[in-house]
Amino acid sequence: MSNAFDAIDVIRAKRDGVPLSAGQIRWVVDAYTRGVVPDEQMSALLMAIFFRGMSGDELAAWTQAMIDSGERKDLSSLGRPTADKHSTGGVGDKITLPLAPLVAACGVAVPQLSGRGLGHTGGTLDKLEAVPGWRADVHEEAYLRQLREVGAVICAAGNDLAPADKLLYALRDVTGTVESIPLIASSIMSKKIAEGADALVLDVKTGSGAFMKSAEDARTLARTMVGLGEAAGVRTVALVTAMDRPLGRAAGNAVEVAESVEVLAGGGPADVVELTLALAREMLAGAGRDDVDPADALADGRAMDVWRAMIAAQGGDPDAPLPSPAETHVVTAPATGTLTRLDAFSLGVAAWRLGAGRARKEDPVSAAAGVVWRAGVGEQVTAGQPLLELQTDDAARIPRALEALEGAVGVDTGEQPLPLILDRITA
Ligand code: URA
Repeated sequence: MSNAFDAIDVIRAKRDGVPLSAGQIRWVVDAYTRGVVPDEQMSALLMAIFFRGMSGDELAAWTQAMIDSGERKDLSSLGRPTADKHSTGGVGDKITLPLAPLVAACGVAVPQLSGRGLGHTGGTLDKLEAVPGWRADVHEEAYLRQLREVGAVICAAGNDLAPADKLLYALRDVTGTVESIPLIASSIMSKKIAEGADALVLDVKTGSGAFMKSAEDARTLARTMVGLGEAAGVRTVALVTAMDRPLGRAAGNAVEVAESVEVLAGGGPADVVELTLALAREMLAGAGRDDVDPADALADGRAMDVWRAMIAAQGGDPDAPLPSPAETHVVTAPATGTLTRLDAFSLGVAAWRLGAGRARKEDPVSAAAGVVWRAGVGEQVTAGQPLLELQTDDAARIPRALEALEGAVGVDTGEQPLPLILDRITA
């Protein structure tokens, strides 16, 4: 691309509220990805976007430029519909694990290029790596073969998937510009559109454990992402769902795999089952298969069969015992009554401090670390009963995890939990 623009002019225009042209946006994203525009100029532009926002036209051009920094995959050779799901991230959010094989068992292929966890929310790949032998890296040919033969693949995104996002996300992380709705929406949607699925379902979380603390911001993010997906020809729907408390009964890596397997075996916590089925129905409808009821595939074991095949195809042993922790510590219920608070953010930080998550990209995670809770919000508890079990490889981590849990549990506080599914957003 020619050097038709000057980064300083682009920064000044955005700073002063002058709309950027599609040409300026294409140029600046491409030049930054090639290393022609340096980090300090892109940092200034991101901060200007943070304060000024982006118009619909600017956002569409920005997202397209991020897609064009890599390759948009073509899955038409599969000969069957494809659908994917993206969650904005939450505590105990293991839904991808049962969901991908479930939707595949219903005849719709699921190409899931996932990431690792950073901070208090876990990453899907970190969870699956708790399965002995399972590998996150799948090269292009094996990826298509697995989609064809098994119907579902969950693996690490290669470097050709929206490479501009990798650079921009790392820069946003250190410049205080992550929490911008247009920047979050373009970051997520550039990767999801490039992945090539026909239909996309977004699970936009709201509450203390989510990126979007307020339901209104979550709705705005959901509407923005649905608009970008539809404009790119991907049938896109979003559910806005609760993350004031964690999902299911476990947060960590091996513990979340174990809970997912329970769901695939026809059991598991009611909220995980409800959300898995709701998202599966949206994915199937988006892919043109609303004639199929995913509850049947869960009940008759077809989803479990796909799970086993999906794990084995990536080197994992679905029958191997999962890693277990060297140390545990029990926290008891503080009073008798209804559990009205189980704060998602606090539990996420506790699991992270126990070793389940990482503070820096290059840190290792512990497969066995996490938190398991014996009662969910709305259930009765008795003073002194075991409520939380902290699990770790390293007992020295327990005090800091307990600090994170101060004030996290409340009995009869009068708080009203959010409904599990708050809203459904369509184009
Ligand atoms: N997840 C992403 O992929 N990008 C963001 O900007 C935020 C969350």
